[in-house]
Amino acid sequence: MHLIEVCVGSSCHLRGAYAVIKELQKSIAENGLEAQVELKACFCMGNCKDGVNIKLNGNVYSDITVDNVMQFIENNLLK
Ligand code: FES
Repeated sequence: MHLIEVCVGSSCHLRGAYAVIKELQKSIAENGLEAQVELKACFCMGNCKDGVNIKLNGNVYSDITVDNVMQFIENNLLK
């Protein structure tokens, strides 16, 4: 089981965190990963200027946008 946590702190929120969550949900479903990935919201990781920040299994990934979510899933969960 993988854990993805998306920062919804105010800075990441302004940079589109909720749109990123929606896109992650879509991408997880499209790739049949629902049973393998838990998606949660979390609060500020202290890395605001590089948001949207997300954590995968505790590792932080920055500059996540709606446009690179699919790439993120492919690179990290479909290898
Ligand atoms: S608001 Fe997301 S890292 Fe600070």
